Amino acid sequence: MVLKGLQSRRPRMRMMYSRLFETMPKFNSVENSRSCHCRRCAIVGNSGNLKGSSYGQLIDSQDYVIRMNRAVTKGYELDVGKKTTHHFMYPESAKDLGANVHLVLVPFKPLDLLWLENVLLNRNFLLMFRKLKGPITADRDKVIIFHPVFFKYVHDKWTEHYGKYPSTGMLALIFGLHICDQLSVFGYGWDRQGNWHHYWENNRLGGAFRVTGVHNATFEMNVITRLAEIGKIQLYRGRPGTP
Ligand code: C5P
Repeated sequence: MVLKGLQSRRPRMRMMYSRLFETMPKFNSVENSRSCHCRRCAIVGNSGNLKGSSYGQLIDSQDYVIRMNRAVTKGYELDVGKKTTHHFMYPESAKDLGANVHLVLVPFKPLDLLWLENVLLNRNFLLMFRKLKGPITADRDKVIIFHPVFFKYVHDKWTEHYGKYPSTGMLALIFGLHICDQLSVFGYGWDRQGNWHHYWENNRLGGAFRVTGVHNATFEMNVITRLAEIGKIQLYRGRPGTP
């Protein structure tokens, strides 16, 4: 299990963290930027139910727009918008980010921290004999590391150990619940045909997120639906009549 793996390497982790923190800027401006008005956020998952939704303007009108993994906006602006303030990723799902976007690293294993260190130092590298994307374009003053303790909290309290560990989307959503006053959630779950593909894919039966079996997509969707029912979030499931 990922979290146990992280815990059992505590001294090594501590060393990696302290080396990493040396390469990071001294201040993180995220919370400094908190103004006294209500912070409205959009969390944008990668579901195909965004296709044809025309949610773009609504998404872009929020203060924070949080995206994840391989999310693309170019060519999909009408449905998903073009603004991004935070982008959740891990090395295998990394992509270049625009200026002023917070790279939120979700470390699933100790090597992910080494990857980030290399990104910050603008180094190209080979990790574990796999060529990962690097260096990527990212604003080094805006890097955030998702804390393993928060990861464990989501696994224990929110996904209740259903699935091997929570999906990036679930982690991002619970992060949003903690930093936003009002949370609108887009791009989660199946589309109207019951498919779980990504909005940029033509393969409607792809459903990578569901078929890996690593996460429990059904349980996570139940949690999200319940949050919507009790009014903690606004959940947008695609426009009626869209495929
Ligand atoms: O597939 P990927 O992990 O990049 O998608 C990001 C997140 O969006 C997932 O972790 C999941 O929470 C959500 N998602 C979803 N339904 C889909 C595709 C993605 O709920 N069909």
